[in-house]
Amino acid sequence: MIFAQLSDPHVAASKTEFHDLYGTQQMLEKALQVATDFTSTPELIFITGDLVNSGSDAEYAILKNILKDIEIPVYLGIGNHDCRSSFQKAFSHLDYIPQNGFVQYAVEHKGLRFLMLDTNIPNKPQGELCADRLKWLDDRLSEKPDMPTVVFMHHPPFITGIKAMDDMGFLHSGEFAALIEKYSHIVRISCGHLHRSIQSTVGGVSTTVCPSTSHSVMLHLEADSQLATTNEPAEIQFHKWSSTGELVTHSYGTSPHKIMWKLKGKRY
Ligand SMILES: [Fe+2]
Ligand SMILES: [Fe+2]
Repeated sequence: MIFAQLSDPHVAASKTEFHDLYGTQQMLEKALQVATDFTSTPELIFITGDLVNSGSDAEYAILKNILKDIEIPVYLGIGNHDCRSSFQKAFSHLDYIPQNGFVQYAVEHKGLRFLMLDTNIPNKPQGELCADRLKWLDDRLSEKPDMPTVVFMHHPPFITGIKAMDDMGFLHSGEFAALIEKYSHIVRISCGHLHRSIQSTVGGVSTTVCPSTSHSVMLHLEADSQLATTNEPAEIQFHKWSSTGELVTHSYGTSPHKIMWKLKGKRY
């Protein structure tokens, strides 16, 4: 079973800096097209936050319009650029989105369970899971300990080495890692926010970051803080869950590309 992950589309209105630089609306449309046209069609699509750039009602209206004809079920999570209440209002027609409190929910599909977390702190770039949100996660993890579970969250709960982004990273990561360590059925934690493909381990669990459908954050691993975005090719991710219980992740460019060489006949 394949499910796709897109992240950080930062949908912005026309004639704004980010939209003019990157064409955020068209980049998301292109990413969705690539996901839905993929030869092994994903059964679900998750978008892990920073859905829009400033959290305005107008941006959510544009996002809603972009998503309206997608036939594959799409599950949305929020990031620091989102506004929880505006998002809940715009997507109140979607059953799985809680209309009060945090945007956290569980989805099950073909033996796999997905938990979407809400790391948003209103008007701050950092992320956190307060006591209530951590308890929700603990409760969900403890209620189905035999069901392989993927945890989605916007802010990666580890230090990435990109100082400018770590300064606006996930708070209280030690507490989160201690909770994760209690369980043995979490097959992946997958995030956004960093606008790059990154892998690490948190509480003994493989933890990955899906790049943005739009702009990349410059890779700067020195001690000083430099924040810039680049035009590296945008990517989405395909996660393949096998019946043997393995989850493998592939990053895939959304720019047009073609086969340049192909084996003809048998090599061996
Ligand atoms: Fe972002
Ligand atoms: Fe973010």
